[in-house]
Amino acid sequence: MHVVGARPNFVKIAPIMHALAQHGKFQQRLVHTGQHYDARLSEVFFQELGMPVPDINLEVGSGSHACQTAEVMRRIEPVLLEFAPDWVLVPGDVNSTLAAALTACKLGLPVAHVEAGLRSFDRTMPEEINRVLTDHMADLLLTPSRDADANLAAEGIAPERVCFVGNVMIDTLVRLLPSAEARWPRISELLPRGEYVLVTLHRPGNVDDPQRLQEFLHAMEVIATDLPVIFPVHPRTRAHLRGRTWPPSALVSRLCLLEPQSYLDFLALQAHAALVLTDSGGVQEETTFLGVRCLTARPNTERPVTLTHGTNRLVPSDALGLIAAVRGAMSETPRPGRPELWDGHAAERIADLLAPSRQDRAPAVKSPRHLESA
Ligand code: UD1
Repeated sequence: MHVVGARPNFVKIAPIMHALAQHGKFQQRLVHTGQHYDARLSEVFFQELGMPVPDINLEVGSGSHACQTAEVMRRIEPVLLEFAPDWVLVPGDVNSTLAAALTACKLGLPVAHVEAGLRSFDRTMPEEINRVLTDHMADLLLTPSRDADANLAAEGIAPERVCFVGNVMIDTLVRLLPSAEARWPRISELLPRGEYVLVTLHRPGNVDDPQRLQEFLHAMEVIATDLPVIFPVHPRTRAHLRGRTWPPSALVSRLCLLEPQSYLDFLALQAHAALVLTDSGGVQEETTFLGVRCLTARPNTERPVTLTHGTNRLVPSDALGLIAAVRGAMSETPRPGRPELWDGHAAERIADLLAPSRQDRAPAVKSPRHLESA
């Protein structure tokens, strides 16, 4: 049983569903918690990623962290009890990930965490709390990079529970890059290839504070005097932009605010950008694979391999710092790199690991507690 809730989860689970289907030894069930419910954040991803309609949609919607997490737990418990899956797969670090892992774990159902072991070491990020707790509950920790293995070892997690499989998000990128490229001619009517800056911004730390958001807006105005700026706006960010008189009309043509983009359109936009300015996690990885300059407006990253083996760089979030970083990066040639096992085959390794004939070699798992007592 796969449990997904938010946009990046879909991108991570899609290749695993394909790989398990090809394996032929699995029955699969897909649960959507409904954390992301807008068509542009959810439905369009299912279509483009070739994912089935979820078997169950918990329709939890938005809420405070406690409410959202609790609501997923409350609604998923009967589903887990009814289906009693052999494995519950939870990807990433969103509230739905933690909620599903905690509920399954308390029912004694084996949990596999996809993208385990990443650490920003910044407990002010809700995702860091979700990651740490999910890892400590999971029976099988599927890591995307060697640093993740080291983080888990440092936290005392038994190595038998950990398996380095590579990056499933890159599996999806590899599979769908040709389809994304096919979208480019339509986009290129508006944009010159390699001559625009692509921006994404949605972290609470950057967008919830009006002063901090203002710094970004100012920086984008100035950067737009050098290169066109394309900014697909996440709903959280849009809510905080509401009521602002921005951007100034003189610059409107070089500052383009868009609705959230579909997976394929956004991948095409990334692939042909001169530079991507972001605070997303997945975008740091995708730009590394694509060899496109990436500036991450955060004080830390849980994906250090994109700094050491990729095109990513951490930059400050104040206007002057952002402008200087963009101009500095544009004067340098990006240094493409490819982290280990970011090869498009991570999901196949996961399928192989979970296959029934291999379970004797997979980490020891407990039997479901409610079945024991039945
Ligand atoms: C969530 C994840 C974040 C991930 C991001 C990807 C957590 C803690 N955060 O952040 O790690 O990078 O998804 O996009 O799980 N909203 C809509 N429509 C939707 C969903 C949300 O309008 O379909 C609005 C609501 O006003 C909501 C706000 O966006 O309150 C934030 O949504 P939420 O799911 O809480 O967190 P994200 O910021 O999307």
